[in-house]
Amino acid sequence: MSSDSKLLQSTAVINEAVQTLRDGGLVAFPTETVYGLGADAKNANAIKKIFTTKGRPSNHPLIVHLAAPDRFDQLQLDWVPVLAPWVRDLSEDALRLINAFWPGPLTLVFKKDKSVLSELTGGQDTVAIRAPAHPLAQELLRKFKGGVVAPSANRFGKVSPTSAGDVRHEFEGILDLMVLDGGDCEVGIESTIIDLSSGDGAVLLRPGAITPKEILEKTGIKVFQRGEDVKKDDELPRVSGSLKAHYAPTTPLRLYAPGRVLDALTEFPDTKSRVALAVWDSESSLGCDAHPSINAEEVIVSSDSVSFASKLYRTLRDLDQQGWDLILFPEPPAGEEWDGVRDRLQRACFGSGPSSSSHSSN
Ligand code: TXA
Ligand code: MG
Repeated sequence: MSSDSKLLQSTAVINEAVQTLRDGGLVAFPTETVYGLGADAKNANAIKKIFTTKGRPSNHPLIVHLAAPDRFDQLQLDWVPVLAPWVRDLSEDALRLINAFWPGPLTLVFKKDKSVLSELTGGQDTVAIRAPAHPLAQELLRKFKGGVVAPSANRFGKVSPTSAGDVRHEFEGILDLMVLDGGDCEVGIESTIIDLSSGDGAVLLRPGAITPKEILEKTGIKVFQRGEDVKKDDELPRVSGSLKAHYAPTTPLRLYAPGRVLDALTEFPDTKSRVALAVWDSESSLGCDAHPSINAEEVIVSSDSVSFASKLYRTLRDLDQQGWDLILFPEPPAGEEWDGVRDRLQRACFGSGPSSSSHSSN
């Protein structure tokens, strides 16, 4: 199917999706990062459905997704009227970030306008907002003419979906969910989250494709790591993805340091274990045949951080369904461009294994 016919076909479907949102229902839709599970941000009952469907604790706040201003293709867009109904103070820095990166994979946390429902903010006085770049998401938001809250369309603690098929699989037998199909997500990991709500500095809450270095280069704004410089908070689970266990497959997942595959296997003494071993495309085979203690099959992964991220969840999901006893991934190299991927892999390791749902999150 050509992309044109896909869009054409989607027009009627998008209208149905808009109606579903207006009626207080849930619609899964593509964004450039991962698929979201959407509901009307002004409808408290619809928001509650998101929490029950995902099995997510109600104090974990959601991101509001907004349409870009009309005349999308102009160089300078006027975001002020778009944000005014949601946000209390819109600083110069906020506008610089927005003009540089929206629509795109960047979420900003602001002090909320009093009309923003506390059901969506987990009772906090801040609100997270982003304008996704995916054309289907933008079309849905424009036609809906309102904010859509959307967490990643996975059950709490599980791997985020990056295709319409993943979303359907995630909720199969649980819910008859409308899913807009926009193909595979390009970015592949969730948006970068920057907290601007304290008014004295930009703080990184979740690393993603847009890095602090890129932000500094494009806007001159320095982004602080959490706990660095800016005042500490009383640490609610403001970013549920910041809990240790997250994005987790059911198959145990571990990381190995360069050249140390065998070390990573010490927890798994059973030599009959079937191991899926991810290997950088830049390296020749690790030659596991030479190690009789491993029954491993190699899976090639990209040594470019952008393409690695775009395939990460796809690969984890596929491997998780193939009945391996263990999945091994190489430790991502040092460097800010790998921070998003490293963060997701570490949490996925921590939450992985058959009992993952009991100690996992989001
Ligand atoms: O890329 C994305 O951001 C995807 C797509 C669908 O847009 N969405 C996503 O949503 O990852 P979710 O709910 O899986 O993760 C949103 C994160 C949560 O960890 C939440 O705690 C954090 O955003 N968040 C939401 N509101 C917040 C707030 N007021 N303060 C701090 N963190 C907030
Ligand atoms: Mg999520």
